[in-house]
Order: sequence, then structure tokens, then C-alpha cells
Amino acid sequence: MKKILITGGAGFIGSHVVRRFVNTYPDYQIVNLDKLTYAGNLENLRDIENKPNYRFVKGDIVEGAFIQSLFEAESFDAVIHLAAESHVDRSISSPLDFVLTNVVGTVNLLNAARQCWKDDYSSRRFYHVSTDEVYGTLGETGLFTEETAYDPHSPYSASKASSDHFVRAYADTYGMDTVISNCSNNYGSFHFPEKLIPLAINNIKNNKPVPVYGKGENIRDWLWVEDHARAIDVIFHQSASGQTYNIGGHNEWTNIDLIRTLCAVMDRKLGRAEGESAKLITFVTDRAGHDLRYAIDSSKLQRELGWTPSLQFEEGLEKTVDWYLENQEWLENVTSGNYQSYYQGQYSDR
Ligand code: NAD
Ligand code: TYD
Repeated sequence: MKKILITGGAGFIGSHVVRRFVNTYPDYQIVNLDKLTYAGNLENLRDIENKPNYRFVKGDIVEGAFIQSLFEAESFDAVIHLAAESHVDRSISSPLDFVLTNVVGTVNLLNAARQCWKDDYSSRRFYHVSTDEVYGTLGETGLFTEETAYDPHSPYSASKASSDHFVRAYADTYGMDTVISNCSNNYGSFHFPEKLIPLAINNIKNNKPVPVYGKGENIRDWLWVEDHARAIDVIFHQSASGQTYNIGGHNEWTNIDLIRTLCAVMDRKLGRAEGESAKLITFVTDRAGHDLRYAIDSSKLQRELGWTPSLQFEEGLEKTVDWYLENQEWLENVTSGNYQSYYQGQYSDR
């Protein structure tokens, strides 16, 4: 039996990873550690919250003494670390929050793991979930590979790059078994509506302007979130120690083409006249330091561990829109702030 600490499990990607591990591995114990910041929502895990192999712990990875005592009390066999401040725009206005959670929080976890595992790293693993944004920006051609030099531009990507370096430093210095994956932009269910796709779906539904930064020419490489969770599962179980894998969908879209496609899907789903939703597109001031293009070469993961993305983007986008339209209560609870009281209702007595 394995006891795995998953951090940030109440967030977008973390909730998909927790669900996958709880459902796929009934003999593992999954402990979800999350501070429940604005981005943490336990409603994301309503369907598995009573499973016998799942437990939630509310806590802040920035609090080193708390993290140390949690590790001593629980004897984890592995960590899958997703907790982070994740929104580039917020990192531009509040960079220090990103240093604290993404850098200090990661080092606190590494320190606690080291203290508890130092006599025998062989059957323990620290899996760090990171982003392709550490590589900086591409021009019109080329792809990020695992050999691409780090060149972060936003406070978010700088903090994630720093955390990646610390994870590698703990492998090199102390011999810890670590793995890192760097993934492209995810989309799908339970995505907080501050990020492009869920924000646009919510605004289109409510007939509000859809803000497109600059000319909408920036390119992102979109991956279905459940394909990311499956990649994490595969890498966690099959990777050799010390490896890095890039994860991506070979699915590049300019922001404006993506939003126009989404508008057409929304017109159809909402019974609007063709072109109606696209009238909401509003070009706004560009993001400072806006990276032009991200695109991932995931051939190492495909070749070595046999992972491939499962969904075409058009199908995934359709499924995502359906999910948001069918889960209006989730969206309303998130946009009204009501989701934060779910914790009190479900967990105050634990
Ligand atoms: P998210 O913002 O949706 O969720 C982050 C979670 O971390 C939340 O539940 C939040 O409450 C928790 N958290 C934040 N600060 C914490 C702290 N100090 N202590 C404990 N918990 C804390 O983020 P996401 O989009 O699900 O991203 C998860 C991870 O994947 C991050 O490490 C991110 O860098 C990485 N990533 C994200 C994407 C993407 O497209 N969203 C792509 C590649 C990599
Ligand atoms: P986002 O979802 O914030 O992810 P990231 O910045 O991590 O890639 O943004 C995706 C792209 O969409 C990025 O190029 C910025 C752009 N964008 C907009 O044009 N309008 C918006 O309202 C947002 C949130 C993002």
C-alpha cells in the first residue's frame, strides 16, 4: 500500500489528479493537502470525498513547521506537488505571493521529504508538476524540448522555474528521487473562470465582453486536463529517477482563433444566431511581457512511456462547453464566492 500526498488537489488540475488516483488505485491512500485559496474548491471533489482511500487536510505549504509535522505524522511514500499560485496576471500584480507559495512552499515540502526519507530514498518519490512557461517564449517556429534552456519572463514562470531548479538541486545534492513534468496550457472541467477558456465561456453565456489581450495573436498549445492527469499517472509510475518530461497536445491556437471557434460553439449550444457571440469579442490592452508562443514537443514522453493525447481539440472544447452549461451551479458558486462555504459545510467537524 502506498500513501501519497497530493498538494493543490482542490484546484483545477489537482482535482483531476486526485480523482484519477483515488478511483484507479483503491489500495493507495491519497491525502489532499490544500490551503483553499481563492483557486481551491472542494466542490471539485464532491464525487470522491467520501471514498475510504481519500482524505483532505487543509494547510499552507508556506508554513514550514506545519509541513514538517504533517510529514512526521503521516509517513508519506510519495509526493505529487501541484499546489501553486497559477495565474500570470495575478503574478504581475502580486509577485511575492508567487515566490512564497511556488518557491518557499516547494522548498518546505522538499525539506520535510528529505528529513523523513533521508535514510532510504529508494522507494520514495517527489513528483513536481510544472509548466512549459519556464522555457520562455518561442518565435514563429520550433518547439520546447526537455533540453530547451530556461528563460522565464513572468513572475509566475520565474517562480515555477525556481521551484524546478530546487527540485533538481535536491536530487543532485541529497540523492532524492525526483521527477518533473512541464505541461502546456490545460483546459476542461473545474477550470477557474479567470483563465481564458472558462472566462470566455462564462462571459459569452452572460452576454458580457470577452477580453482578448493585444491583437489576439499569441499562441498557446492546449491540452485536455484529463490527458494531463493521465500523463502524470504514467510518469509517476514509470519514469526513471531524475527525469523530466514535457507534456503537450500538439494543438496550437492563436487566442483569437480559439475564441472565435468557442463563440461559434456557444452560438450553437445557446441557440443564438451565427456570429452573435463573436460580437462580444473586445480587444483590450496587452498583458505586460506577454509571451508570444508556447508549443511543446512531447515526443520523449510518447516514445519512452507510450503516452499520447486522447482527445481532438474540437471535441474537447465541445465537451468543456457542455460541462459548463450543465454545471451552472458550480459556475455560479465560483463566481459568487459561495464555493468557499462548502468547506465549512463538509469539513468543519474533521
Ligand atoms: P489552480 O490555481 O487551479 O490550483 C492551485 C491549488 O493550489 C488550489 O487548490 C490552491 O488552493 C492551492 N494552493 C495555492 N497556494 C497554496 C498554499 N500556499 N498551500 C497549499 N495549497 C495552496 O492551479 P492549476 O491550474 O490546477 O495548476 C496546478 C499546477 O499545475 C501548478 O503547479 C501549475 O503551475 C501547474 N500547471 C498548470 C497548467 C495550467 O494550464 N493550468 C499548465 C501546466 C502546469
Ligand atoms: P491564461 O488562460 O491566463 O493562461 P497563460 O497565461 O498561463 O497562458 O491565458 C491564455 C492566453 O490568453 C494568454 O495568451 C493570455 C490570453 N488571455 C486573453 O487574451 N484574455 C483573457 O482574459 C485572459 C485571462 C487571457
